[in-house]
Amino acid sequence: MSEVSLNTRRILLIVGGGIAAYKALELVRLLRKAGAEVRAVLTDGGAQFVTPLSLAALTGHPVHQALFSPDDETTMGHIELSRWADLVVVAPATAGLIAKAANGLADDLASTTLLATDKRVLMAPAMNVRMWQHPAVQANVARLGGFDGLHGVALVGPDDGEMACGEFGPGRMAEPAAVFAAIRTLLADAGGRPLAGRRAVVTAGPTFEPIDPVRGLTNRSSGKQGYAIAAALAERGAEVTLISGPVGLDAPDGVHRVWVETAVEMKVAVDAALPADIAVMSAAVADWRVDGVASGKIKKAPGGPPSLALIENPDILAGLSAPGPKRPALVIGFAAETRDLEENARAKLSRKGCDWIIGNDVSDDVFGADSNSVTLFRRGVADEIWPRQSKADVALTLVDRIVDHFA
Ligand code: C5P
Repeated sequence: MSEVSLNTRRILLIVGGGIAAYKALELVRLLRKAGAEVRAVLTDGGAQFVTPLSLAALTGHPVHQALFSPDDETTMGHIELSRWADLVVVAPATAGLIAKAANGLADDLASTTLLATDKRVLMAPAMNVRMWQHPAVQANVARLGGFDGLHGVALVGPDDGEMACGEFGPGRMAEPAAVFAAIRTLLADAGGRPLAGRRAVVTAGPTFEPIDPVRGLTNRSSGKQGYAIAAALAERGAEVTLISGPVGLDAPDGVHRVWVETAVEMKVAVDAALPADIAVMSAAVADWRVDGVASGKIKKAPGGPPSLALIENPDILAGLSAPGPKRPALVIGFAAETRDLEENARAKLSRKGCDWIIGNDVSDDVFGADSNSVTLFRRGVADEIWPRQSKADVALTLVDRIVDHFA
């Protein structure tokens, strides 16, 4: 089994009508646990076995059921849905769904999506043993497997065993863990590692600047955006060093994390991680640190509060962007602004000397939130305003641009 993480990968799951549909729920759970985003299409038959509510609760998204639904078509229509995915999975795949897909029939949302997609399709067949062994089904399965390139459908299962109907033989849907493993393998095969051989350094989270042994200056950065970027870079094959201020997040799979507290420590760690091809500086570095940190706890004194003398921290991004033999080929910074985003971000691009700036509109609640509205500013290129999306999606979109840049 490949070791790729499913973090931020997008799976469109089509749930057909069969008793095995309950296994689709466990599959969604496994996929979500591995970090994948899942959207579900539920056929009329599937809805006889699992409820749209179960799938919506487990995927965290509304379930798509109807082809001609004004609601669905304005939010995410069948074409968009079929393109959104990195992989389409049909589980359980009934004899009916297999027959439609093999013959290009498009008369409901599931079959139409299968024809419209430009991604690989994985099917987990489930049906009675006689149905599975019927030459018509076998001919359809052979036909699906024989389509050229991307259109060739991969199969997982069916397994041999006792069936819900009491008969015995091949026809049971593969277990969720086996479908999950097949999904990982297919995603790894789908050329998912275009950044292999490239090194990346990412900073994330706040810094903590001590005042005395128990107090300090910090900020409300959660580190979520930087961690998501590190995960997406690693997933695309880059060798990632994540230099993190104090946050409560797990290190993403395959990422080398270095803990730091202060801006000065962060700068030392960034320098030590060079050379790198890609640098993404998403940490909220404190602008100042306390001059002369007290060696013991500062006591409350009758004369009133102490005054703190502050000195400027090194600007890690500006230092990294300066021309020199160790400058990464692509240096990306962030600009969190509450107003005049474009003006401020473009000014920061020139002042810091980096290549790209992710302009972050923090006028609404971004700190600690799971979604983000950003604009990508690049020298000599028009602004790219991205719709408000999850931080995982921001990371994926950014990494797509990075892949294009190096392609
Ligand atoms: O100047 P400002 O803090 O607004 O710039 C934000 C960008 O600069 C972010 O990419 C941040 O990680 C980086 N930065 C840095 N070192 C500093 C201050 C900011 O790397 N001391």
